[in-house]
Amino acid sequence: MSFNIDKTRSDFPILEKKVYDKKLIYLDSAASAQKPMSVINSMKSFQEEEYANVHRGIHYLSNLATDQYELSRKKVRDFINANNEDEIIFTMGATDAINLVAQSLAYNFFNEGDEIILTVMEHHSNIVPWHFLREKCGVKIKWIDCDDNGIIKVEDFLSTITDKTKLISITQMSNVLGSEIPLKEIIKIAHDNNIRVLVDGCQGIAHLDTDVQDLDCDYYVFSGHKLYGPTGVGVLYGKYDLLESMYPWRGGGEMIKEVFKDEVTYSKPPAKFEAGTPNIVQAVGLGAAIDYFIEKKKQGLFNYEEEIAKYFHNEINKLPKVKVYGKENIKSPMISFTVDGSHPHDIATIVDKEGVAIRAGQHCTQPLLDFFNLSSTARASIGMYTNKNDIDIFIKALNKAISFFD
Ligand SMILES: Cc1ncc(COP(=O)(O)O)c(C=O)c1O
Repeated sequence: MSFNIDKTRSDFPILEKKVYDKKLIYLDSAASAQKPMSVINSMKSFQEEEYANVHRGIHYLSNLATDQYELSRKKVRDFINANNEDEIIFTMGATDAINLVAQSLAYNFFNEGDEIILTVMEHHSNIVPWHFLREKCGVKIKWIDCDDNGIIKVEDFLSTITDKTKLISITQMSNVLGSEIPLKEIIKIAHDNNIRVLVDGCQGIAHLDTDVQDLDCDYYVFSGHKLYGPTGVGVLYGKYDLLESMYPWRGGGEMIKEVFKDEVTYSKPPAKFEAGTPNIVQAVGLGAAIDYFIEKKKQGLFNYEEEIAKYFHNEINKLPKVKVYGKENIKSPMISFTVDGSHPHDIATIVDKEGVAIRAGQHCTQPLLDFFNLSSTARASIGMYTNKNDIDIFIKALNKAISFFD
């Protein structure tokens, strides 16, 4: 079966919604993707029929809930091709997962003067947790710039690495420019120099094939809500021996082996990093989102998205006064742009009145915007439900905004 856009759209009930009495055109999937009915239903029926706390009870319902929760872990494992399920830790999201790694490595991995390499394209969630370490343990952050088209050069890593470098933390796909990063080459260089690599897969997970063993990254994180799943759940993948060597970050129930008045011992991963009652319902929803996504991928989702992205780039590049950042990247599922003589917030407000949802602002990437000498951009991003009609309506609305400021 090939990818059927009309059928796909009918799976997303929110697309029926009217805003200001106009058809909703949702072009903000990079911020958060909408949810298909199968995801919504999975969480509803789980709560109606199978819900209890996990890993605790010996009663029927708790076992059933635990099975569902662990099934989702298995789905994540298969989806990103981790070596085993114990390498998959459920977190509250990508931000939570990166903070987990940073705080854990602060205990017994980083020393004063050690270096972390970031790129200028990172999201604040992949910057601020490392600033904490700069402030707390005297770790030094080094930066790799992109070029004007949002391209990261592998050679820049070679010239930035020193014998003090211990970690490279890097996005799989820029959430502003949609740039893809030559991850495999960077990871190879890192490992040749005994450096660990964390990959922020928040955007990449929904648009690229991801195989963590093939990438050979040490850590990989993503959020469920960008993958058509619920908010409140995300994933940290880590190579098992690394997870085992890491200190737990949060303390509480489930992550311990034994607790005495003067001593505590810890469970093995993944439990070691999942203190307290997890987001059980959301983890089940993420499992359903992965099922749905895999089905769409088999039907040709990525080819479809590429076609829509190219159409989108082609149409927006025809408009006067519009400057697209990372313009050469015509397959990018997100387009960041400015319009001469107007503020991105005003553009977003005008198109919103036409029913079109886009984002404007810094996109949590101030270093990247500083690099381009900008304080904000407007960003339109596509999802699996975006069709050419959405793009046409957006272009019309954008044209209206442009004429408004003429
Ligand atoms: C590239 C990237 N990294 C990290 C994040 C943070 O994700 P979350 O807010 O779901 O933790 C985002 C969200 O926009 C993102 O796009």
